[in-house]
Amino acid sequence: MADNTPESEKILVLDFGSQYTQLITRRVREMGVYSEIFPCTIGLEKIRSFGARGIILSGSPFSVHQKGAPVLPKGFFELGLPVLGICYGMQLITKSLGGTVAKSKDREYGAAQLQITNKAGLFEGLADSENVWMSHGDRIEKLPDGFETVASTGNSPFAAMQNSAKKIYAIQFHPEVAHTPNGAKILANFAKKICGCSGGWTMKSFLQTEVERIRKQVGKDRVILGLSGGVDSTVCAAIVHQAIGDQLTCLLIDNGLLRKNEARQVMENFKEKLHIKVRCKDASAVFLKALKGIKDPEKKRKTIGKKFIDVFQREAKKIGRVKYLAQGTLYPDVIESVSFKGPSAVIKSHHNVGGLPKKMKLGLVEPLRELFKDEVRQLGLEMGLDETLIHRQPFPGPGLAIRIIGDVTPARLNLLREADAIVTAEIKSAGLYREVWQSFAVLLPVKSVGVMGDERTYENAVAVRAVTSRDGMTADWARLPYDVLGKIANRIINAVAGVNRVVYDVSSKPPSTIEWE
Ligand code: XMP
Repeated sequence: MADNTPESEKILVLDFGSQYTQLITRRVREMGVYSEIFPCTIGLEKIRSFGARGIILSGSPFSVHQKGAPVLPKGFFELGLPVLGICYGMQLITKSLGGTVAKSKDREYGAAQLQITNKAGLFEGLADSENVWMSHGDRIEKLPDGFETVASTGNSPFAAMQNSAKKIYAIQFHPEVAHTPNGAKILANFAKKICGCSGGWTMKSFLQTEVERIRKQVGKDRVILGLSGGVDSTVCAAIVHQAIGDQLTCLLIDNGLLRKNEARQVMENFKEKLHIKVRCKDASAVFLKALKGIKDPEKKRKTIGKKFIDVFQREAKKIGRVKYLAQGTLYPDVIESVSFKGPSAVIKSHHNVGGLPKKMKLGLVEPLRELFKDEVRQLGLEMGLDETLIHRQPFPGPGLAIRIIGDVTPARLNLLREADAIVTAEIKSAGLYREVWQSFAVLLPVKSVGVMGDERTYENAVAVRAVTSRDGMTADWARLPYDVLGKIANRIINAVAGVNRVVYDVSSKPPSTIEWE
């Protein structure tokens, strides 16, 4: 029987290394069509078995004339599926099917005016002239046989071409970026009108399918999940719980590096609001002992990571026979992408619990591995999770240890906890908590002179860090209103014993990073 679920209507994005590849997938998903990225090096068989209704070829930093430039999988056009080539994708189609791609010394970069001459196909419902975003070096000089030009710009006479009999379409510009205002319509015309996807993929349908999948995978076995209280592990726990109920046990390791009241709040949320089985192990003493005297940031990270695995393993044993580990791995972490260095598959793996599955010989349950962060948030809301849980700012695995520059001691942790709670409270009360990506306090290894009442003081300095960001990869310092900054400084100096100076960090990433260590 044919599978007609929304999940079966898929678009495959073949990645040739463009910085915009993820955006293509996101735009397609935003219109309710499921889409996944594969590196261009996968063979025809894998493409076939994915079962897409159409394929989009991404752009690339390469020129098709360059040595080692990525190529289409052998026999690609035998698949007979609708194809949309974007930029490099267009040049590859042209070169592979006998057209001519000319080398160009100059790049065409920026906004361009697209004149559409034939709207049947990609441009249905668009105006005769549209703003589009160009970013390419080479250009098409002769179309392959069977293709017609359907749009042009001042610099690119063949800005769009099609072979409607074979359902092969190609465009020189980038429809996936915001600078092409009607780009989503073009992608929708391809996915829905040309490939026949209905657009019924929603977080609701994803949830149903995923719950079934988890039930099938896990059967009657037991699953353990390391809880951090962050969005990913919370949503992951909720979905696994929905699938298998009390076969799931969550474990919160309190490493003593959490924020003020954090462990208690996470426990309350899980037990009382979500009714999920959860255990908390207070291992603060173990972690603090291991961290004693360590000043180097990387050593701190490694020590915490290693201890986490030790403690988690020990605690997991107490639960009994467990066969699976559930993890909130997200899609950007698993995409095998063609890097700028060449078409070799790279998998990012910077997970805090990365060493666990191997050591514990556990199977993995990763219900979020196909989702982007904002989709995880939508999924959480779909399941009825509290907004305050869903919109929590990210918090690093090594916790406050990498926000205390120098020695991590109980006294310094307490001091930072108090200062950090004030930053969070003031950012929330100013209504800025969701606007900024992260906002927190950092304890510096610096003492300075101050005066309180008639007394000279010689106390610690605290830095306030608040950044705006889309994904944490790049960031800018948040332009917090002066009165919010003033209030934060005032409250910290008055209420936190041992602090007499507060500074604001105005560095962007790069060249700085978000965390100080
Ligand atoms: P940086 O400091 O590299 O941080 O600009 C980027 C984002 O990653 C978080 N971060 C970490 N998260 N383990 C984590 O789970 C870590 O070791 C770690 N270091 C940084 C940081 O909070 C920011 O969101």
